Amino acid sequence: MKILGIETSCDETSCAIIEKGTRVLSNVIFSQIRMHAKTYGVVPEVAAREHVLKIIPVLENALNKAKISLSEIDAVAVAFGPGLMSSLLTGVITANITSLFLDKPIIPVNHIEGHIYSNWLEAEIEPKFPILVLTVSGGHNEIYLMKQHFDFKLIGETLDDAAGEAFDKVARLLGLGYPGGPVIMEAAEKGNPSAYKFPRPMINKNNFNFSFSGIKTAVLYFIEKEKRAGRRINKKFINDVAASFQEAVTDVLCAKLIRALEKFSEVKEVHLAGGVSANIHLREKIEKEIEKFNTRSSAKIIFRYPRKFEYCTDNAAMIASAGYYKYKKFSKKFGVNYIEAKAEF
Ligand code: KG4
Ligand code: ZN
Repeated sequence: MKILGIETSCDETSCAIIEKGTRVLSNVIFSQIRMHAKTYGVVPEVAAREHVLKIIPVLENALNKAKISLSEIDAVAVAFGPGLMSSLLTGVITANITSLFLDKPIIPVNHIEGHIYSNWLEAEIEPKFPILVLTVSGGHNEIYLMKQHFDFKLIGETLDDAAGEAFDKVARLLGLGYPGGPVIMEAAEKGNPSAYKFPRPMINKNNFNFSFSGIKTAVLYFIEKEKRAGRRINKKFINDVAASFQEAVTDVLCAKLIRALEKFSEVKEVHLAGGVSANIHLREKIEKEIEKFNTRSSAKIIFRYPRKFEYCTDNAAMIASAGYYKYKKFSKKFGVNYIEAKAEF
């Protein structure tokens, strides 16, 4: 079964062709990052206009790369939210028209569920349930217990900002550019993570929720205080702040995830998904903690993160993969038209 995936939730226009849920035939992403770097963030009107311009060339490119024609598609999966409404519309309308034209099913996919399925892309061995998933992006930050395909139990979530948003805001404070994640990670590599002690919000709270808005304010006040004291804002200072900030955020993400693993001991795998899953420091930290967990409890938990960097941030391959499993699950149970009838947009 070949699924065309379409993703236009925020500032990436993407189309992908996926076979049997895991095989990526193509995954074309047009990123608007350069455009939004000038404003240190996404301007919805600008993003929406770019999606309108790019969606058809991106779709044609995805078909060419997969070496198939549009008529060979078996279904269309599209991200319907959460996201910027004016951006989502382009993807949803394109998916609707394609599905009508081809007379093939349309499968609405929640964007966060899409991120979760990025760990199925190119997986040699399919993941085994139950799975504990940490989804961490610019717009969302949750822990889910996934018992089966499309059976997600929310265990914890952010009460304010997501970790990716904190990366973006701190990068702006440090004059490093947009998006913040990759530039902070790069600066942090040259800095000392113990140089400054930033707060680890809610790390000792006995729940699985997060709060990242305070940490960005703590960094802001710290930089202002240092400036008032006459400190020169040089490269070394910036690298040390970036490394110390990254250390604080990844400590919290990792601690909460391991606490959840201790509670839900029936879990067979732990997955990291969403834009921040591209962070190598976070991956290594979680990997180490899971190794320790496996040793102390004689468990064999498998840890996964997306196999390619392009599967971490927004892309249509993950939407197509989620669409495949959603279709397989619900069309069997309720008939092939169920998903069309249930379309949530
Ligand atoms: O999943 P995504 O593309 O969009 C949302 O659904 O929000 O995630 C984008 C977020 C941005 O906040 C970006 O700064 C962050 O992911 N990000 C990273 C890294 N690469 C991207 N954060 C930390 N380290 C990275 N290497
Ligand atoms: Zn996303």
